[in-house]
Formats: sequence, structure tokens, C-alpha cells
Amino acid sequence: MPCDRVALSPHLLANIFPFHIAFNRNTEIVQIGKVLEQKYPKISVGSQIAEHFQVTRPNIPMEFDAIAKRQKSLFLIQYQHNSMQLKGQMVYDERSECMLFLGSPWVTDLVQLKHLSIDLNDFAIHDPIVDYLFLLQAQNTALADTKQLAEKLTIQRAEISKALEKEKELNELKSRFITTTSHEFRTPLTKILGMTEILEHYSHKWSEDKKRVYFFGIKNNIKYLTQMLDEILLLDLAEAEALELNPSFIDIGEICQDLVKELQTVKGNQHKLKFSNQSIRLQGLLDEKLLRQVLKNLLLNAIKYSSPGSIVNLKLIGHQQEAVFQIEDQGMGILPEDIEFIFEPFHRGKNVENIPGTGLGLTIVKKILCLFGGNSTVKSEVGVGTTFTVSIPLG
Ligand SMILES: Nc1ncnc2c1ncn2[C@@H]1O[C@H](COP(=O)(O)OP(=O)(O)OP(=O)(O)O)[C@@H](O)[C@H]1O
Ligand SMILES: [Mg+2]
Repeated sequence: MPCDRVALSPHLLANIFPFHIAFNRNTEIVQIGKVLEQKYPKISVGSQIAEHFQVTRPNIPMEFDAIAKRQKSLFLIQYQHNSMQLKGQMVYDERSECMLFLGSPWVTDLVQLKHLSIDLNDFAIHDPIVDYLFLLQAQNTALADTKQLAEKLTIQRAEISKALEKEKELNELKSRFITTTSHEFRTPLTKILGMTEILEHYSHKWSEDKKRVYFFGIKNNIKYLTQMLDEILLLDLAEAEALELNPSFIDIGEICQDLVKELQTVKGNQHKLKFSNQSIRLQGLLDEKLLRQVLKNLLLNAIKYSSPGSIVNLKLIGHQQEAVFQIEDQGMGILPEDIEFIFEPFHRGKNVENIPGTGLGLTIVKKILCLFGGNSTVKSEVGVGTTFTVSIPLG
């Protein structure tokens, strides 16, 4: 049968206008949209619409007749208990003699939806605000993407400039390395060459003792060169982060004692090396070779930069979880302007004059201590002496 009229059922109305409100001549609510009903249970059928909303546009009171006269106006009604504003139209229904407010929440950004406890799905599909909200959503996503991209770019740019900086540093280091080492290699090599030439031409006229002095000199210079090469190789390994720890359970006091004995008996050493142990059998898991290298470099410095006959002290102060070493000399000391640079590769104090050295010993100490998770401090007074304190955690 053809139908000539469509009557909107309350069910259809509630779905098509999920935020609608119908009220009678006494401004008593008779029907509400399904979302309003679910999310705002306070707005109940039978209560007064003025208890919940006031009209902010047009400028009229929430009264039936006043509203009826302004049916052609766009209405904004404000919820009393939060910031929700509904925007829509007032339509009088002759059949039920009720006023229908057909509208939906007026929002200008997506965050507002959350504050109102509603989401995009709560709106009717035909509602133009949905298109607007979708647009907002797309814009927000695009903005977030752009922000993310910009952040990524900033990070990448920082990484690139850091890598370039590192490369520059490495290049500088390389050229400093070549200049310093070639100079440091040339001196002992010239000495070796000189001594072998003299031996070649005159040794047949010399006593065995005199020859031995020259052979000793040659051997010493070769030893110095070998030591320097070892240091360079060790530093190279450390720079490439390829220096590996080989820990074993060691008696730290014993190693110190041993090292002091070894250095004391080096031919030509006129220093008085003393070891004092304030710990009772301090043992721990450490890489023995690298620990020896640290202590040796510091002790050799103490010897090298102080006068023959003076005292060099190695003190071991053990704590439960930590080994603390103090290497103390009565030597020339370090100038205040050099102190902060002495652990830098190739840095040599301004007061070293012609004492030989490459400036790598303390750099190696620093690298190894970093691997051990330890640290070092230095106290020095020019003309009085220097004390290096090294702390190494025992794991
Ligand atoms: N005990 C010390 N007394 C005085 N100066 C010191 C002492 N230890 C280190 N220095 C200063 O720190 C600088 C850096 O020391 P480092 O051990 O790194 O290099 P080096 O001794 O010059 O050369 P090498 O590579 O042969 O050890 C030294 O040149 C010296 O000026
Ligand atoms: Mg040194």
C-alpha cells in the first residue's frame, strides 16, 4: 500500500538525533536522544530543561513561548554542569504540542570531546560536525606526523654533526700522532744508529766493558721503542673499543708488591720505591695485565718526573667493594694550567723540558679505568710532588 506520510517514531528520532531534547509547554523534558540519555543520566525525562540548560543564543530565557517565536534562529544552549554547548534548531511539533531541540555538541577541537565524555561515534552520520571533526582529526594526524618527522630530522642532523665532529677530532689526533711519534721514534733510532756506527768503526780497539756500555745503550733504546709501540697498539685497541677484559681472581697486594720489586730492580733506577698495604689480603676479579699497565704507567711517571734518590710511594687502601691506590712522588709536580689536560692524548706538561715521553701513558690509564668502571684524581704542587689516586670497583 503506497504511503503518503512518514511519521517519525521516537526510536528513529532518538537515533537520528542522538542529542535531541523534547520538552512540553511547561518546559518539562519528555524525551531525550540516546547519547544524551546514556552519557548524561542527570538530564532525565520529567525534569525541567532549565535545570540543565540555559539559552546562550539567541538572548532569550528558557521559556516555551519565547523559544517558539524564535524558531528560525540558530540556538546555542549551555549545559550547566560542564562546558558542553549544544548547537541546533528548535522545532515545534503540532501533533505532540512539544518543542524539539535538534542539535549536537558544538566542539572546535578533538580534545574537547574527551572532556565531554563523548566520541566521534556518538554523532549521527548526517551531522555536519562529523565532517568537521574528521577534518580536524586528519589535520591533527598530519601535524603529529610532521612533528615526528621534524624531531627525527633534528636527531639525525645532531647525529651527523656529532659524527663529523668525531671524524674531525680523529683526523686531528691522527696528524698529531704522526708528528709526535715520528719525532719520538727518530730520537732513539738516531741514537741506535750512532752507537752501532761507533761500534762498527772503533770496537776492535775497545775493552769488553766499554763495548758492553754501548750494547746496553742500544738495547735500552730498542726497549723504549718497543714499549712505545706497545702503548700505541693498546691505545689503538682502546680507541676502536676492541680492548677486552680478561678478569681473573687476583691478590691485589701481591701484584703491587711484585710490580714495585720489578721497577726497583730496573737497571739505572736510583729511586726508593716503597709499597704499603693497608688492606688485609685484598682480592678481586680484575684483569691483571691491564691493572699492571695502569699502576706501571703511574709509577713510571712518578719515577720519570722526580729526582734520583727521592721516594716513590705506592699505597694500597682496600675497601670491601673497592681497591684504592695512591702513587705519590716528591718530584717536579704538574703546572696548574696542565692539570686538566694531562689525560688527553699527546699532552705533555710545559715543565717536562727534555724528559722523553709521548704523552700517551695517562691516556691509556684513563681508557683502562673507564673499562674497569673506575676513576682517578690527581693532586700536585710544583716543586713538591704529585699524588695520583685511583679507585677501582671490585666486582
Ligand atoms: N708524576 C708526575 N709528576 C709530574 N708530571 C707528571 C706526572 N705524571 C704525569 N705528568 C705530566 O703529565 C703529562 C702526561 O703524562 P703521560 O704519562 O700521559 O705522558 P708522558 O709521561 O709524557 O709520556 P709517556 O707516553 O711516555 O708516558 C706528562 O708529560 C707530565 O707533564
Ligand atoms: Mg708517562
